[in-house]
Amino acid sequence: MNTFALVTLLVLAGCQMSRVAGGDDRAGVPIEPTREPTLPEAAEGRFLIGTAIMARALDDPAVADLIRTQYNAITAENELKPKSVQPEPGAFDFTAGDKLADFAEANDIALIGHTLVWHQQAPAWMFEDEAGEPLPRDEALENMRAHIHTVVKHFKGRVHGWDVVNEAISDNGPYLRDTPALRAIGDDYVIKAFEFAREADPDVELYYNDFNIELDYKRDKALRLLAELDAAGVRPDRVGIQGHWLIGGPDIEQLERGLTAYFDAGYDIDITELDIDMLPRDAAGADLDISPGAVGNPYADGLPDERQQALADRYREIFELLTKYDERISRVTFWGTHDGATWLNGWPVRGRTNHPLLFDRQLQPKPAFDAVIEVLQAKKQ
Ligand code: G3I
Repeated sequence: MNTFALVTLLVLAGCQMSRVAGGDDRAGVPIEPTREPTLPEAAEGRFLIGTAIMARALDDPAVADLIRTQYNAITAENELKPKSVQPEPGAFDFTAGDKLADFAEANDIALIGHTLVWHQQAPAWMFEDEAGEPLPRDEALENMRAHIHTVVKHFKGRVHGWDVVNEAISDNGPYLRDTPALRAIGDDYVIKAFEFAREADPDVELYYNDFNIELDYKRDKALRLLAELDAAGVRPDRVGIQGHWLIGGPDIEQLERGLTAYFDAGYDIDITELDIDMLPRDAAGADLDISPGAVGNPYADGLPDERQQALADRYREIFELLTKYDERISRVTFWGTHDGATWLNGWPVRGRTNHPLLFDRQLQPKPAFDAVIEVLQAKKQ
């Protein structure tokens, strides 16, 4: 593990999330007309620019306008996760997903399905019996198959691509993360999930998605998984590198080394969950099972100019890297639309005020927005 790897792992009793999505923490309405060019205009011909949203964000007209204008991809932040879609066996709920799909269709936006298999936000019954013991393999496989088939078929033609399996690589173990799915089915649950998704929709894009797999401590394990998927005939269309990065790291050389390792191995990538944590903590990533020692809430009243500039510089160097390899990257998605709707206001501790995105709580573009636009345009000249 390196400096930015998960060093101090404290097991959380539960996932400490709070008001994290959907414009929950937003102040005021836009006071400035939309800037031009927009992010999708500036990034045209390179990659899609996405944002993760909850369906309820669309009820706020100003937020809906911002999404429509500044993004041409949306990822379902929570509402297509197994526990949202099938909380009880056979009781499927597609209400929120359909609302996102309608909005995406009406606005020519690509909808990304997130996610078919994940150890968080997963209904216990899918892989465990009532005593918490793993189900027999066949039963667990059938539960997973039925879930994937029903969900993927429901959204066939409306979803651009699926994060089939999310975060299967272990942070501190030798290979795969120890999860209920793995305990019931075995290591090949990832392969099976991709097989089921491909059966359900031969045309939709399928992704493997994870955090920190660009970093040295986790990358070889991810490449091993990709090779196994490939050998099984279910090679993912692209690899989703989440991009939950910090203001202080990982440094850009490390990121470049990580991304190019995937390119060299023959895989194209997407950046699927980009944000830059501005608050103090001592480990990177997005593992909801751990609390990486967060302290303080230094920017509750706003980000000082010097920190705004630091954020702009950080986004600048990241987009300089991404545009350098834009032929191998199809989408860059921010995990949230504006600073009032980011999971980082609620993790690793609730109730902090984070500033990780390009738009502030008033939906105004920050200096980081201008930096990103500048980089996207500079490449075109
Ligand atoms: O839906 C319930 C609601 O009924 C209840 O009243 C409320 C009380 O807190 O909780 C709501 O559920 C929360 C859900 O977000 C929707 O707001 C969960 O508690 C909360 O844990 C959940 O957090 C999400 C987290 O994944 C876990 O699913 C975050 O919003 C979401 O941003 C985060 O996203 C993950 C990606 O899926 C995978 N990669 C890392 C990324 C960040 O953790």
